[in-house]
Amino acid sequence: MNTITTEDLFTELTSELSDTFQFLEDKPEETLESTLKACWFKSAGIPKSAIKAMEEPLPALDENQIKVLLQLIGQRQKNIPLAHLTGRQNFMGIELLCDKRALIPRKETEILGKKAVAISQEMTFRKSAVYVLDICCGAGNLGLAVAFYNSKSKVIVTDLSHDAVELAKENICFLKLNHLVKAMQGDLFSAVDQHRFYEKIDLIICNPPYISTAKVTKMNTEISAHEPVLAFDGGMFGTKIIQRFLSEAPKFLAKGGSIMFEVGSGQGEFMMRLCEETDRFIDIEPVKDNIGNIRVIHAKKK
Ligand SMILES: C[S@@+](CC[C@H](N)C(=O)[O-])C[C@H]1O[C@@H](n2cnc3c(N)ncnc32)[C@H](O)[C@@H]1O
Repeated sequence: MNTITTEDLFTELTSELSDTFQFLEDKPEETLESTLKACWFKSAGIPKSAIKAMEEPLPALDENQIKVLLQLIGQRQKNIPLAHLTGRQNFMGIELLCDKRALIPRKETEILGKKAVAISQEMTFRKSAVYVLDICCGAGNLGLAVAFYNSKSKVIVTDLSHDAVELAKENICFLKLNHLVKAMQGDLFSAVDQHRFYEKIDLIICNPPYISTAKVTKMNTEISAHEPVLAFDGGMFGTKIIQRFLSEAPKFLAKGGSIMFEVGSGQGEFMMRLCEETDRFIDIEPVKDNIGNIRVIHAKKK
């Protein structure tokens, strides 16, 4: 019987499959090579994200594992998200569990994650512990990244979606961060609306749903058929959640505390004005992506 080497099989699949996958702009880490490698690792029983799969040599596959690989490739060609097939997504270098219960963490959200880690670390120069809230946490990626990179943080992550909170709890255990992170379910701040949290939080982060309802109905089916609509729909103008966030956040912020939230590409100036109009924040600072779009707004409590 002829046996095919790992290298030959990979080369053969690469040439056969070029142009058979659709790749979305907001998942820049997904290419033909990273997709094949991530499916390969999954079929070998070693699930890895597209990013991680690029970092290690491919294991040899037996006949059954090759069958599994071909099935995964077929599912991916039907636009099932790669992260749902592998059960993994990488966020800021951290491997996370991922499935249809919550939004697949996007590369663009690392702008907010990196800024949140940096600000929380700056705060620890002045305080022994930094209290952080991640509102609209989804899989828990933002709050978990802060805790992962800053062991002096104490983080609560919350989401309206019970499913998302369950996944966030699994990620807390997966990363062994139970001593630093707690997940709670509730509408915006409702899970923490208790006296002991008032004016106690140093940093509140949020990646809210910010897409207008009209645009949500036109999203690519790889997104709309597989990710929760609650993660995207920000109402008629995309601002429904962020307006509530801006009015409720000050009650929880400690003196000198900060808020930080992601905005859609093109929404930056408008969101800066919304933030100013509340008259509750100072030092409102835009954070831009590498092509100059405002993607994050950081502001301090007045
Ligand atoms: C854009 S996703 C962000 C998920 C995750 N933080 C991330 O960065 O990948 C928005 C999240 O907001 C949650 N959400 C929507 N409305 C909410 C509300 N009223 N209160 C709390 N969470 C809400 C959704 O369930 C979803 O998980």
